[in-house]
Amino acid sequence: MTKSSEKLDFQQRLREVQQRVEGYLTTLLEKSQSHEKLDAAMAYALTDGGKRLRPFLAYAVADIYDVPHEEVDSVAAAIELIHCYSLVHDDLPDMDNSCLRRGKPSVWKQFDVPTAILAGDALMTLAFQVIAEEAYLGPSTRAELVAMLACQSGAQGMVAGQMYDLFPKENNDVDAVLDMQQLKTGCLIGASCQAAAIIAGASEGEINFLKQFGRLFGLIFQITDDLLDVEGDTATTGKPVAQDACKHNLINLLGVDGAKELLAKLVSDALHLLEQLPHGGGILQALIPWVLNRSN
Ligand code: IPE
Ligand code: IPE
Ligand code: MG
Ligand code: MG
Ligand code: MG
Repeated sequence: MTKSSEKLDFQQRLREVQQRVEGYLTTLLEKSQSHEKLDAAMAYALTDGGKRLRPFLAYAVADIYDVPHEEVDSVAAAIELIHCYSLVHDDLPDMDNSCLRRGKPSVWKQFDVPTAILAGDALMTLAFQVIAEEAYLGPSTRAELVAMLACQSGAQGMVAGQMYDLFPKENNDVDAVLDMQQLKTGCLIGASCQAAAIIAGASEGEINFLKQFGRLFGLIFQITDDLLDVEGDTATTGKPVAQDACKHNLINLLGVDGAKELLAKLVSDALHLLEQLPHGGGILQALIPWVLNRSN
């Protein structure tokens, strides 16, 4: 297969996942109608934009383990629900104070702060409901997925990372920043990689391996996000740039070149891990260059 056809397959595959998860989320929203303004804010946060990277990872691992996509739909959507809630809260004035998300006013700007907080709460809780009610999965698999996602997105995972991002450790060094970034971004991406392996009944060792790969990939993803804050432009990223000058991230500690050097090392570690997966990680091989070259 040539490089250009690999690229085409990857783009096609990404579009398929985007359509699949967006269809699922739209149906879900139609079924969960409540307060009119809350419904509108949830739909605004969830639809129209977003790369859907985390569902992509979940389906990619499903393919490695031959898990039918119907069995992965609910957890892939749940992870995207958690991700979207995290963005709604991340943009709030008392967090990153960001007015633009996915090329549109962020939820608090479009609606108001209380609605953004409550829409985030509702998206997050809906995520757990969706998994708990999934008829394709047995009760013990549902319980395992709920526990895993709660752990990776809560106080042991993403929420802890967001806390360290806003309230860094004293003497914050490179290792502390890497720990923070693994928590805030790596844990949910790790969850995306573990989910289908849990459904497949893979061994604890395999599930743990995918979690480690996901966390490393999440770190790579967050460093490219921080680089886009310095080198990107709002027209393509769809969010404000030069927002992180006061943040404790690798670019502020090591400079752009230093951060890129560390990124290259992490990428080589990630590619090495992928080789150890069945089928060399399949389509995940093409994901790493895509992330490194992304413009949003
Ligand atoms: C943005 O995530 C927040 C980070 C963890 C860097 P994405 O870049 O995946 O955001 P969307 O969903 O595509 O908008
Ligand atoms: C956000 O990191 C991470 C989470 C939402 C958990 P950033 O604050 O860097 O994400 P952007 O740049 O606003 O998308
Ligand atoms: Mg943030
Ligand atoms: Mg932010
Ligand atoms: Mg950022």
